[in-house]
Amino acid sequence: MSRMSGWLPLTWPLLLGLMALWLAVLPSAARAEYGDVVINQRSDAEGVRPVVFPHWFHRIRFRCKVCHQELGFEMRAGANAVRMNDIVDGKFCGACHNGQVAWGPDRCDLCHSGLKGLSSGIQGGAQTSGPGRW
Ligand code: HEC
Ligand code: HEC
Ligand code: HEC
Repeated sequence: MSRMSGWLPLTWPLLLGLMALWLAVLPSAARAEYGDVVINQRSDAEGVRPVVFPHWFHRIRFRCKVCHQELGFEMRAGANAVRMNDIVDGKFCGACHNGQVAWGPDRCDLCHSGLKGLSSGIQGGAQTSGPGRW
């Protein structure tokens, strides 16, 4: 009995502490939100460079729901069919890249900044690289 009561108070906090530590260092899928997203569903095929979308750069300026609910971007890389016409019409990226909230759709190379052949999806880990890096 006295052996048990000595064991419990010491070990449980230790175990819980170790578990918390383990959870904290677990690499988590949510970290994808920090990377750049390459969008290349049509760009290569249509003769422009793939689009590099710096997710973190935007994420620190806007709430998730602005894009993932109000503007209709699905929360999965490669899941959105974004057309240049939609952008010029003020949808998707064009809701902000309209020359008012941010620079407009005439600045092709700021968005179409990826190297030819990059495939759609998350690139990189915790960096906000923006145009020019690729
Ligand atoms: C604000 C960001 C942004 C700017 C600025 C921009 N584009 Fe795009 N564009 C996109 C995105 C995102 C796509 C979808 C890419 C994909 O799926 O390959 C796209 C797609 C395209 C496509 C593929 C065909 C289609 O109809 O969707 C072409 C061609 C294109 N853009 C040309 C241009 C040209 C030319 C300019 C400058 C006059 C320009 N873009 C400026 C973001 C931008
Ligand atoms: C300015 C717009 C914008 C904001 C703000 C934004 N996102 Fe995104 N997010 C996007 C776009 C665009 C994509 C890529 C979609 C695609 O490739 O079709 C994306 C992709 C994602 C993905 C998919 C990653 C993967 O691996 O498939 C996740 C998860 C995500 N966002 C989470 C978030 C979270 C969480 C927040 C807020 C903390 C947030 N986003 C804020 C525009 C945004
Ligand atoms: C909710 C508003 C919003 C949406 C939606 C949005 N952007 Fe932006 N974006 C901004 C703002 C604001 C800036 C900063 C403009 C400035 O610095 O003048 C910016 C900057 C950028 C930059 C430059 C980043 C840097 O490092 O300087 C790129 C590239 C870019 N956006 C691409 C896109 C693409 C591609 C999409 C669509 C997939 C998109 N954005 C959708 C608001 C938005």
